[in-house]
Amino acid sequence: MRVEPAGIEITVREGESLMQAAWREGYEWPTLCYAMGRCTACRCEVLDGLHVLSERTDAEVALLGDLNRRVRRANPRRVRLACQVSATGDVTVRKPGVKKRTEERAANANDTT
Ligand code: FES
Repeated sequence: MRVEPAGIEITVREGESLMQAAWREGYEWPTLCYAMGRCTACRCEVLDGLHVLSERTDAEVALLGDLNRRVRRANPRRVRLACQVSATGDVTVRKPGVKKRTEERAANANDTT
C-alpha cells in the first residue's frame, strides 16, 4: 500500500486491515475508536486499486452511508474505513496524518498505569 501525501509504502499482509498493517510497521493512523469501526476517523480515499479491496463491512456501510449523506463527495465509492478494509494487491490511498510513530508516543501508548 502506498499512502499519500506522505508517500509511505506499507506491506499489507493477507487478512490484515490497512490500518493494522500501518500499526504493525510503526505508523500512526488517525483514529478515535481504535479500529472498532465506530468513528470514521480512519477513513481514506482510494486513489488506485479499488478492485483489490475487500467488500464493505457492515460498519462501513452504516458509517460511510451516513457520512456520505452529510458530506457530498465526487465519488463516495472511493472512501473506505482503513480499520475495516483489507487488500489483496497494490493499492494507493490518500490519508493525511499517517506518520511514523515516535518512541515517546509508543511509550505513552504502552503505558497502562
Ligand atoms: S478507526 Fe474508528 S472507524 Fe476505523
